[in-house]
Amino acid sequence: MDIFRIEGPVQLSGVVSINGSKNASLPIMAATILTAGKSILKAVPHLSDISVFSQLLGRLGCELTRSPNGDLCIDSRVIDNPVGEYEIVRRMRASICVLGPLLARCGRAEVSMPGGCAIGDRPIDIHLRGLRELGAKIHLKSGYIVAEAPRGLTGCDIFMGGPFGSTVLGTANVLMASTLAKGKTIIASAACEPEIVDLANCLTKMGAKIDGIGSPRLIIEGVKELQPAEYQVIPDRIEVGTFMVAAAITAGQLRLLNCRLDDMMAVVDKLRNIGVTVEKGKTRDERRETRDEVVVARRGSIKPADITTQPYPGFPTDLQAQFMALLSLAKGNSVVIEKVFPDRFMHVAELNRMAANLRREGSTVIIAGVKKLVAAPVMASDLRASAALVLAGLVAEGTTVVNRVYHIDRGYERIEERLNLVGAKIFREGI
Ligand code: EPZ
Repeated sequence: MDIFRIEGPVQLSGVVSINGSKNASLPIMAATILTAGKSILKAVPHLSDISVFSQLLGRLGCELTRSPNGDLCIDSRVIDNPVGEYEIVRRMRASICVLGPLLARCGRAEVSMPGGCAIGDRPIDIHLRGLRELGAKIHLKSGYIVAEAPRGLTGCDIFMGGPFGSTVLGTANVLMASTLAKGKTIIASAACEPEIVDLANCLTKMGAKIDGIGSPRLIIEGVKELQPAEYQVIPDRIEVGTFMVAAAITAGQLRLLNCRLDDMMAVVDKLRNIGVTVEKGKTRDERRETRDEVVVARRGSIKPADITTQPYPGFPTDLQAQFMALLSLAKGNSVVIEKVFPDRFMHVAELNRMAANLRREGSTVIIAGVKKLVAAPVMASDLRASAALVLAGLVAEGTTVVNRVYHIDRGYERIEERLNLVGAKIFREGI
């Protein structure tokens, strides 16, 4: 198990290139199950979550290879074992998004029921409700969801809203299943996250007929079959946001290449209110395609802010922990309300170990800004909480030790190397 030893405080300055989105890549990889051929996915990041998901697809029967230029090739001609095993699903909840495509392709799927995790209960009732409405018969057997539709799925109108709004992977599951259903499906209260838009765009390239992409009302006209496709995954907006906070918390300046600020309006707005400058620019990549870049810098003090996380286009829950690290150092009091995963606060006690002053009341955290953070040994609990601890470690006085950094490797590619190139002092050590 690796640890990070982080020496602080530092001030970051330089250029960082943003990778492809993990949360867009996973459902898009699952979408290849719907085709019987070889798809080529570009910009899929090199992350442990992607490796675990690749293993899952491999066990189903797919063949996966990385070409020398980094493209991920998925040959899904053979799917002879439509089973998502416990051993893999327990390591990564997102494995559930093979359920819809397996059911549509094979007429049957067995996927281990995901358990809770460090960020809360995480039920999948809405996924199952949607698939049932498409005609699947579903029951639970020895911890496995067994879904059957031997005569195929049939389009219908489905409402996908839940107690915390729409569901991202639930929308992905039902959307993928409905592309091969007979007739028309309408998904109301669909998730509008950019990762769902990316999935819908990839499905369209595969031959699916989807209207209303990007809106909460998706209309899908089922087709007989989909074709494999070549598709480029969008940049990771959560990685962009994390590096933005890295620039802000260290009173530094970072130029971030390959990002789409239009997907991040709530985040950019919040940063500007906090006193961070965010300037948008354009660059050309090696294929001469124009891409957004952004320069993020902070000179004055950190102003307090109130943040409420919400489904897109609201402020993303996946950046809540990182912003909490930033607001710990604000001049005044801030309030963070978590409306997507009300228990996603494992980082609160760890940040307090670093001399932050955070008080949790239910799904709200009140932050009394402090002048400085102080290094301490801390424990990473989930992916984004670990990112928050690394960000805090950059500015804490002394050597912060972050334990269990495998959490951060799930979603950030070589984060310590990339931060060190712009001025951080992070050392990875095996224990
Ligand atoms: C996706 O998880 C992301 N994961 C999460 O990112 C992200 O935090 C989350 O969406 C919200 O944006 C991937 O894309 C792989 P949800 P997902 O279903 O789809 C409740 C990260 O750090 N709900 O949109 O599993 C649920 O409990 C990860 O990269 C139900 O009640 O999240 C939550 O309160 C962590 N019933 C809310 O909806 C259901 O059937 C939103 O969850 C499904 C969800």
